[in-house]
Amino acid sequence: MKQMRKTSKPKLEKAHIAFRLNGEQTEVAFAPHKTLLEVLREDLRLTGTKHGCELGECGCCAVLIDGKPVLSCLALGVAAEGHEVTTVEGMTDGTELHPLQQTFAELGAAQCGYCTPGILLTAKVLLENSPRPSRDQIKDALAGNICRCTGYIKIYEAVELAAARMAGEPAEPAKETIYGWD
Ligand code: FES
Ligand code: FES
Repeated sequence: MKQMRKTSKPKLEKAHIAFRLNGEQTEVAFAPHKTLLEVLREDLRLTGTKHGCELGECGCCAVLIDGKPVLSCLALGVAAEGHEVTTVEGMTDGTELHPLQQTFAELGAAQCGYCTPGILLTAKVLLENSPRPSRDQIKDALAGNICRCTGYIKIYEAVELAAARMAGEPAEPAKETIYGWD
């Protein structure tokens, strides 16, 4: 009988990239079809970036690439090669929360928190470009970030409060924001 020669499966080549991640030079190898979201969560264990619709519709996977918001579920991991990527883990300054993180915590603008990393990073870019945005500018900037819990008002108020503090004002949350109306 004729002997069949065993053929070994071709090995999947891994992509290997170098980039800056939250201020640190980083190298990582991964299956080349992976999205940036998958590389961050599965290969680099940064699970702050959330996995939602994978269709570019919910905004919870937003990260910054070279300072601009990008939906990491729609970007290939290999696209990060040579760029600067910022995730929510990179928002603190050492042990100091970013003012947005602080006001989101104070005002209860994060409830389940699933949308929060994408919203924080998108709001961070807004405040870099428009230090005192109007309510409408905040709504426009966050229009691509869906939140199922908060009703958005606390999120807008938290962005406004952070903007005021970053401008050097000794701003505190309104009593109604914390305790509601009588
Ligand atoms: S998971 Fe990326 S936009 Fe929803
Ligand atoms: S806090 Fe739950 S989805 Fe926004």
